[in-house]
Amino acid sequence: MTTTAAQPTSTTALVTGANKGLGRETVRALAALAGLGWTVWLGARDESLGTAAAHELSADGADVRYVALDVTDDASVAAAVATISAAGGLDVLVNNAGIVESAKPIEDVDPADFLPVYGVNVLGPVRMTRAFLALLRQSAHPRIVNVSSGLGSFAATSDPDRIESQVTSLVDTSSKAALNMITTQYAKALTGVKVNVVDPGYTGTDLNGHRGTQTVEEGARAIIAAATLPLDGPTGTFTEGAGPAAW
Ligand SMILES: NC(=O)c1ccc[n+]([C@@H]2O[C@H](COP(=O)([O-])OP(=O)(O)OC[C@H]3O[C@@H](n4cnc5c(N)ncnc54)[C@H](OP(=O)(O)O)[C@@H]3O)[C@@H](O)[C@H]2O)c1
Repeated sequence: MTTTAAQPTSTTALVTGANKGLGRETVRALAALAGLGWTVWLGARDESLGTAAAHELSADGADVRYVALDVTDDASVAAAVATISAAGGLDVLVNNAGIVESAKPIEDVDPADFLPVYGVNVLGPVRMTRAFLALLRQSAHPRIVNVSSGLGSFAATSDPDRIESQVTSLVDTSSKAALNMITTQYAKALTGVKVNVVDPGYTGTDLNGHRGTQTVEEGARAIIAAATLPLDGPTGTFTEGAGPAAW
């Protein structure tokens, strides 16, 4: 995509669930754009894991800062808004934190099994968007990236050629399908804010016992692309590493 409009000279991003996995790699890759003026807040709910990751990723002059952040907790999110606001503002919010349900036969899944997963995967991005919106609106180029999954895609989960079609799950899949719709609704309503959703693809992390076939560098590609969209980039899109993803 070519850029015609002038780009801001500095950018501040926040990545949730960034002490490990795709979130950590997203922080690393965005902070490596430090020469282009990127400051990246590494959100993590565990202080010792978060500060250790931020310290490791601050090598070579990268500007990585830890912020305590549990996306299920209003007070934690409000404190993060205050910290990041006091430090100067926010341009890019990456809603990456996510969990999966414990494996059990679908007929045994109970309504209560939905609550923790929906609390992080669905209500987390809504809580974060609502809390950070005023700050994002002060940016010249505000972007929100929601990290979804091919498991939230009706197209991928019903395509026999896609690995997602081999998965049978009620909770994780439906939480990501809800996140996809939440993204397109925000994209329509939040004029001036680019809100996009991405599928990293099957990536080896703790989430799947490192069975994922991609590296985190490969998995984070779609996240980085949406986080670094130019001023004239799109909103309301669903992409994967290779380009547009099917809903
Ligand atoms: N890996 C894949 O194949 C794959 C595929 C498609 C989509 N995704 C999505 O990619 C995102 C990142 O997944 P990952 O594979 O990198 O998993 P991961 O390595 O398990 O990392 C998940 C991150 O989310 C954090 N988290 C969980 N609950 C949280 C909460 N309440 N508040 C703040 N942070 C919280 C975890 O923190 P703790 O360490 O404190 O638990 C961890 O940092 C998720 O949204 C996932 O659904 C992954």
